[in-house]
Amino acid sequence: MGHVKLGLVGYPVEHSLSPRMQQAAMAHLGISGEYLLLPTKPAELPARLREVAANYAGVNVTVPYKRSVMDLLDDVSEDARKIGAVNTIVNEDGYLRGYNTDAAGFYWSLKRHNVLPGEALVLGAGGAARAVVYALVEKGWLVGVANRTLARAEELAQQLGAWLVAPAKLEKAVRRTPLLINATSVGLEDGASSPLPPGVLPEAGVVVDLVYSPLRTKLLADAAAAGLETIDGLQMLLGQGMRSFELWTGRKAPLEVMERALGKVV
Ligand code: ATR
Repeated sequence: MGHVKLGLVGYPVEHSLSPRMQQAAMAHLGISGEYLLLPTKPAELPARLREVAANYAGVNVTVPYKRSVMDLLDDVSEDARKIGAVNTIVNEDGYLRGYNTDAAGFYWSLKRHNVLPGEALVLGAGGAARAVVYALVEKGWLVGVANRTLARAEELAQQLGAWLVAPAKLEKAVRRTPLLINATSVGLEDGASSPLPPGVLPEAGVVVDLVYSPLRTKLLADAAAAGLETIDGLQMLLGQGMRSFELWTGRKAPLEVMERALGKVV
């Protein structure tokens, strides 16, 4: 393998943890390469993709292009098409293929924590929620979806085979679910807000937050204080990064190295 050029297309991109995670993986395996931040304004996206096709082994795609980039690619995997979002592009001799590694990365994080299949409740209806619901439904879970904007949850539930949790039923659904996932942005850079009403938590089980800044969100702190198992937002980030690395390089992703690069040692 020659020099492997990778990067992140989005706007903004500078707070991403992906460069250190991917570069650590390449260094560990002795792969010569780099992972660059590629801030891209909307009007520059087509030209950026031509540059990727010419010079990069692949890139990640982030906000705000996970959906819109699909129309500019040569091919999109079935998973990504159903989810409606691409987060990883692989360049095969100038042919750009889109994938979604968020779904598999999320599922990996559940397996890693020995969470057994059953029922789940997902909060949110954006791109992150769609990847999570897709992964769970695909693996045979019964998934409920709740969202501030009901129409978005309704559409997601219908398209991906989940059931809709009406606002009036939310508290009851939360209390009885064995697995709760926050896929909203509530809690992002905000230690005071939780996506759940005060005092409402599952009675038993696992609480996952996809928000990783801060790592210990109010939701996870509340859940831990109530004796529930918690899985933080770095776990899905790690899972998707490992899958992307494997698609780009064909090598097995070095889990411990990548996790350490994220600043956390388990
Ligand atoms: P992502 O790609 O990260 O999923 P997104 O598509 O913007 O981002 O989705 C953000 C999610 O967080 C949505 O479910 C959004 O709810 P709406 O569909 O009602 O907009 C949810 N969200 C964001 N801010 C919220 C808030 N203050 N309260 C409740 N939900 C919120």
